[in-house]
Amino acid sequence: MSTSSFRLLFFVVAIAAATQLTVTAQAIRAPEPILPLPEKVTDVDPGKAKLGEKLFADKRLSGDGTVSCQSCHLPHAGGADPRRHSVSAFGKVRELNSPTIFNVRYNTAGLNWTGRTKDLDAQISSSVGNADTMAHDWGKVLKVLAADPAMVSEFKTIYGGDAPVTQKNASEAIVSFERSLITPSRFDDWLKGDDKAITAQEKVGYDKFKNNGCVGCHNGINVGGNSFMKFGLIGDYYGDRAKKGRGAMVEVDKGRLLVTKKEEDTHVFRVASLRNVALTAPYFHDGAVDTLDEAIQLMGRHQLGREIPPDERKDIEAFLRSLTGKQLEKR
Ligand code: HEC
Ligand code: HEC
Repeated sequence: MSTSSFRLLFFVVAIAAATQLTVTAQAIRAPEPILPLPEKVTDVDPGKAKLGEKLFADKRLSGDGTVSCQSCHLPHAGGADPRRHSVSAFGKVRELNSPTIFNVRYNTAGLNWTGRTKDLDAQISSSVGNADTMAHDWGKVLKVLAADPAMVSEFKTIYGGDAPVTQKNASEAIVSFERSLITPSRFDDWLKGDDKAITAQEKVGYDKFKNNGCVGCHNGINVGGNSFMKFGLIGDYYGDRAKKGRGAMVEVDKGRLLVTKKEEDTHVFRVASLRNVALTAPYFHDGAVDTLDEAIQLMGRHQLGREIPPDERKDIEAFLRSLTGKQLEKR
């Protein structure tokens, strides 16, 4: 055995010993298809995240000074947008509903409804110039920020140097902020072994969520965000939407086909994360559904081919509400 594998072995043994200790302190539940969020983020520089939070709320990042990132990713709306269609700089109305910015670091399938962007670093480099969001360009943004003495001094405190207001630093700050946004919930406490963290109805709802097959798509640490599936596997979701007067089929409904150009990716979307879903109405990429109850009903109908009875939907909804971050429940 080489020295390095000895070292590795020692490491594994040390971890096993440490885990043993936590296990006795709090019994970790038998493996569940949903994994708990950590209580805290430990890999983000708090100073950078704080600067990022300011930039995230700064309307000077948009071409006409009317929107900030926060305009469409609102903290009190679960990090999403309560409007069906968000309005970008220069009053452009989008056809997509804004997804939540909370726990976004765990959306491992890629970002946006179609997974078209690899990660947060790629997203931030394109979002300022995107005509559908900020409609600006980094060069102009940096000029404005560098002319603001308060901003320059904040950048200097964190990054040092004579010209700290750079795209690299600003982007890193915003991404640090985004990576810091995690929302551990009561359900996570239950997953970690606290039996009293959720109510009896929430537990029944979780069992129904599993038994109905929701968990086949919505699983992992973000209860989704880690795979792609066709939205409307069964029946005609888009036709039914039009019949309800909620809009005919549009380009964005093609989903991942627009990214991969593969016919089989028609109407394929990233499985949505269900964390904080009680706060992120309206639902789906098209924002066509106002209530969680109807979203559950349509998921049963179009993803599982099953009409879920109203009382079961109530239980499932109760479970989904237990996924709201503890700090957001208190608001
Ligand atoms: C006009 C509304 C609007 C503004 C302003 C806006 N966004 Fe978004 N954001 C959206 C929409 C809509 C999507 C989904 C786009 C898609 O799927 O193609 C999105 C997606 C995202 C995602 C991916 C989320 C996920 O779950 O994959 C991140 C991260 C993000 N935005 C960050 C930002 C940042 C940072 C800014 C500011 C520089 C910003 N947004 C400004 C509407 C907006
Ligand atoms: C076959 C995969 C699949 C199954 C099974 C499934 N879902 Fe989904 N779910 C998705 C996809 C994909 C989306 C994103 C659809 C879109 O917006 O285009 C989604 C979105 C949602 C949303 C909307 C989230 C938001 O922020 O807009 C809710 C709520 C939801 N699912 C709940 C459920 C429930 C409850 C069940 C079980 C009854 C279920 N899902 C079963 C794939 C699935």
